[in-house]
Amino acid sequence: MKRHLVSAADLSRDDALLVLDTAEELAQLSGRAVKKLPTLRGRTVVNLFFEDSTRTKTSFEVAEKRLSADVINFSAKGSSVSKGESLKDTALTLQAMGADAVVIRHHASGAPARLAQSDWLHGSVINAGDGTHEHPTQALLDAFTMRRHLNPGSGKDLAGRRVTIVGDILHSRVARSNVHLLTTLGAQVTFVAPPTLLPIGIEQWPCEISYDLDSVLPKTDALMMLRVQRERMNAAFFPTEREYSRRYGLDGVRMAQLPEHAIVMHPGPMVRGMEITAEVADSPRCTVVEQVANGVSVRMAVLYLLLGGAVFADGPTEPARTDSVETAQ
Ligand code: NCD
Repeated sequence: MKRHLVSAADLSRDDALLVLDTAEELAQLSGRAVKKLPTLRGRTVVNLFFEDSTRTKTSFEVAEKRLSADVINFSAKGSSVSKGESLKDTALTLQAMGADAVVIRHHASGAPARLAQSDWLHGSVINAGDGTHEHPTQALLDAFTMRRHLNPGSGKDLAGRRVTIVGDILHSRVARSNVHLLTTLGAQVTFVAPPTLLPIGIEQWPCEISYDLDSVLPKTDALMMLRVQRERMNAAFFPTEREYSRRYGLDGVRMAQLPEHAIVMHPGPMVRGMEITAEVADSPRCTVVEQVANGVSVRMAVLYLLLGGAVFADGPTEPARTDSVETAQ
């Protein structure tokens, strides 16, 4: 049976907690002189990136290398994709080369699901961001970061925590994956955005909507700022950048309205001066760099659980539950 991570909605509460707890164990490695585990020795992982990426791509690569996998980086630029090769033929080529897992980022929403449902590939498919659809490992690393800061309850989920996500929700796969995962973990999500940057049908999502950032800040435990994704826009969604920043941007004065324990998050890349000022981005409350570090541990956990490695550095441990993170197919 295939094992994939295509959508955050595929993760039950137990699946999500297993990934987060495994990531917590694996995070201890980053403090050691030798950061590698032999777990995926002899397994081949392909990073198939059809869209630009800095953090996600490097972080998957570091995670794969720390687990001793053989890593192949394939980017659409410079490959036969630019000569018109289809996703199917690309996948069949990777299968012929014996890929055990494919980490895919694609501009088309649904591309990872297409791969996961096909018989073109026999290995695991991990969605590293597809169009405006989903980015499940980003949601996992965000939840991991929140759990570390917001004192989880005894069940170690995020029950009762209030998360506010601000900005270009319409084009954000990060927002979509987060709303699924955070709800599964018991958090309450509020979206703040101009009406033009909210998707149609948002009333059906398990979240609240507000157009007034200032009124939501005092009730927020984690504030997630999103970039305005100009590359996905074909029209004007707000009058001017200045107007957008004034109403939906975060500066030092606004940040002071958050409760003392609250954190400011951003998936990156940040556009300083637009959705976040340099003062906020560089403040100790902003977890953007920590999120990147946590991304490595979380992606190691996902690979470990999907590919079924069972040996930690210090010798054999409990076998991992390899059936835990998979799509309902
Ligand atoms: C995001 C993405 O690519 O979806 N970044 C990321 O993966 N860390 C968000 C964005 O591009 O703004």
